Amino acid sequence: MAEHVTLIYAGKEFRLPLVTGSEGEKAIDISLLRRETGLITLDSGYANTGSCKSAITFVDGEKGILRYRGIPVEQLAERSTFKETAYLLINGELPSQKELTRFSVLLNDHSLVHEDMKTFYQNFPRSSHPMGILSAMVNALRSFYPELQDLDEETTITVTRLLSKVRTMAAMSHKISRGHTVVYPRSDLTYCANFLNMMFDSPVKPYEIDPDVVKALNVFLILHADHEQNCSTAAVRVVGSARVNLYAAISAGIAALWGPLHGGANQAVIETLGEIAQGGNLHQMIARAKDRQDPYRLMGFGHRVYKTFDPRARIMKRMAHVLLDKLNLSDPLLDVARELEEIALKDDYFIEHHLYPNVDFYSGIVLRAIGIPINMFTVLFAIGRLPGWIAQWKESMDEPDWKLCRPRQVYTGPHERPYVPIEER
Ligand code: CMC
Repeated sequence: MAEHVTLIYAGKEFRLPLVTGSEGEKAIDISLLRRETGLITLDSGYANTGSCKSAITFVDGEKGILRYRGIPVEQLAERSTFKETAYLLINGELPSQKELTRFSVLLNDHSLVHEDMKTFYQNFPRSSHPMGILSAMVNALRSFYPELQDLDEETTITVTRLLSKVRTMAAMSHKISRGHTVVYPRSDLTYCANFLNMMFDSPVKPYEIDPDVVKALNVFLILHADHEQNCSTAAVRVVGSARVNLYAAISAGIAALWGPLHGGANQAVIETLGEIAQGGNLHQMIARAKDRQDPYRLMGFGHRVYKTFDPRARIMKRMAHVLLDKLNLSDPLLDVARELEEIALKDDYFIEHHLYPNVDFYSGIVLRAIGIPINMFTVLFAIGRLPGWIAQWKESMDEPDWKLCRPRQVYTGPHERPYVPIEER
């Protein structure tokens, strides 16, 4: 017999069905709640609300588990590439060799960006943040490449176009912000090597592609590739639910990711570590983070879902060490990060609040070692998250019961009152 919970309200019993996920997660289906009881639910920040059923990513925040389409992220980080992981997320299965080759050909075919788009870049003020530029440019893609959504094949082209062009556009924004010549994509390079080459090659100093750096970038992007219903993914789904074009939905995701409580934390962490390295008082920062009257938070710590170590943070920390060793580099910020982590993890406040390092805590150190400038950190997160956003958008479009996202509210404003003409106020 199907499980249910019983709600007793105004002396009446209502049976609400229970939904069970493939990993045993349970949810109360309240879709008929308002119709049957007149009630709605109130859940600030949606901390207890499942907004959809999804077969893409599984996170267990208590156990520190993250799997894409069932495959542990640790295995993907070790053995896969970002391109293959993107295919897995979007299509549901790892590709065969033939499918992977076809995917690579499509990514190469769509890697160039319309030359007219360069003029857009040139007209942004020099101080613009690359996330603002990226969000605007992705939205602008719609005008240059009208979406073809009717057939499966056409959706594949739109999706591949985005995956390929966002990478080119990100590198372009870096070059243009420096006033340097744009470097075009090359079909002989892999997805990550191509990005690095577009970022760092120059007519005066050719970029030497280092396989260790390429591997580190692959791992970074794989770790960011999806994270179920987080803020930016929810934004993509909500905006997409109005049936706007894919570019507009992704642009909304980029805007949400920019925030310092979400993807923008990777930039904020490095700023904090840099402050400490330059003589800032680490203990004072921890004291401020613990003070409930002070809005200050220790960036790179805490997570809505993980109440133990974020599995991505463990991999990122290990990779920061491996990469620095391989490149024969030392980064004083890594020592500061380790010290900060050690102090925080022993602190009662952090223990009681289950605050552990999240993916953003060590990722900036990896990006610095690769040579990525700090204002591009969140752009790298966006490139990584793109396959996840696309997969989630696609899943929502294919959902037969998908509805326009339109939450309700509990109104707390004034009762009805008359309009007062200005001369009487
Ligand atoms: N430093 C100090 N206190 C914290 C922190 C922190 N980083 N994070 C949470 N808390 C405290 C918070 O003050 C609150 O305390 P109390 O219950 O005593 O009032 C309690 O922990 C719960 O916080 P919350 O804001 O209700 O919890 P949340 O689930 O909404 O927070 C978070 C999630 C990520 C917004 C938060 O942990 C945070 O602001 N962290 C810093 C920013 C950051 O690193 N963001 C990147 C997240 S990982 C990348 C991604 O997926 O976006």
